[in-house]
Amino acid sequence: MQAAALESAFFPAVELVGAVGSAVLVWYGGHLIFLGRVPLGTVVAFLNYLTRFFMPIREITQVWGVFLSAGVSTERIVEILSTEPRVKEEPGAVELGRVRGEVRFEGVHFSYQPGQEVLHGIDLEAQPGETVALVGPTGAGKTTVINLLARFYDPDRGRITVDGQDIRGVTLASLRRQLGVVLQDNFVFSGTIRENIRYGRPGAADREVEEAARAVGADAFIRRLPQGYDTDVGERGARISVGQRQLLAFARALLADPAILVLDEATSSVDPYTEALIQEALRRLLRGRTAIVIAHRLSTVRDADRIYVLDGGRVAEVGTHDQLLARGGLYRHLYDLQFAAVAADS
Ligand SMILES: Nc1ncnc2c1ncn2[C@@H]1O[C@H](COP(=O)(O)OP(=O)(O)OP(=O)(O)O)[C@@H](O)[C@H]1O
Ligand SMILES: [Mg+2]
Repeated sequence: MQAAALESAFFPAVELVGAVGSAVLVWYGGHLIFLGRVPLGTVVAFLNYLTRFFMPIREITQVWGVFLSAGVSTERIVEILSTEPRVKEEPGAVELGRVRGEVRFEGVHFSYQPGQEVLHGIDLEAQPGETVALVGPTGAGKTTVINLLARFYDPDRGRITVDGQDIRGVTLASLRRQLGVVLQDNFVFSGTIRENIRYGRPGAADREVEEAARAVGADAFIRRLPQGYDTDVGERGARISVGQRQLLAFARALLADPAILVLDEATSSVDPYTEALIQEALRRLLRGRTAIVIAHRLSTVRDADRIYVLDGGRVAEVGTHDQLLARGGLYRHLYDLQFAAVAADS
């Protein structure tokens, strides 16, 4: 703001002085010509000199403005670079090797802002290879659970373990190597399809990239594209559809082959053909690994080994789809609202 204020004061001031100077020169020069004291050419030359004199001054003011805003930008950048992360690696943190994929939340309390607790003692477990679904009304804390597992934040109380090891005691890089995260809105980079899938595991060979794409059923649409795997998907994947972007994200996750998969299912609806493709791809992706899924698909909750129904930061109900339906509680209510219409369609 200061830079902008200075610039907007300086520039007109310099212009004004220049304009007044010219005016005075024309007025006084005209006077002298009129009196026959100087020839017209002299006054014109002076007018020229004056313009030339002010040109560099005007440029200096402009540069000064740019200089000030650059200073402000630098300050901002330094501010971000020197931010202390809230989550710190402990001095004696160990490498987490290849895990079996047992995940456990024990009495986890958490608040984003001090005094405003969001999770009030969550207990949750996933055995290796199990698919656990999280459902619940908006604001229940589903995304928060995932944020804690990926250790974007640390719990206030309670602990989270992977294969029995507290995740606060392991290095962040080794924890996140074991963890695949597929979010609702997947980031697709501008670049080719191949590059986008390979992002899951940068060292992967072309053959492996194509295998992953085939395994999730993305192969068919990729081959139909003009340059196949070398097609440029455009800025943020603008040139491929939402469903295709999801399949790409699945291929990417499959290539990374994490022991634990975290999935925030997309809510956007796709056509029935793509939906069938995605469901099949999901089954492939979830097979043989622990998965924690924020479920929006009926097929996902039906197939889940266990469903945790979250409400207001607490686990309200736990069970399988059939058990929870029979109970007639919150799950039944959510089911009637969210899934029943889909069930009627299929
Ligand atoms: N970064 C944040 N800072 C402060 N409060 C937050 C933050 N993120 C979420 N919250 C709060 O935490 C609570 C749980 O949010 P969360 O995102 O986990 O809900 P959710 O179950 O994922 O909801 P949805 O189904 O809408 O995605 C909400 O009350 C929300 O306002
Ligand atoms: Mg959420």
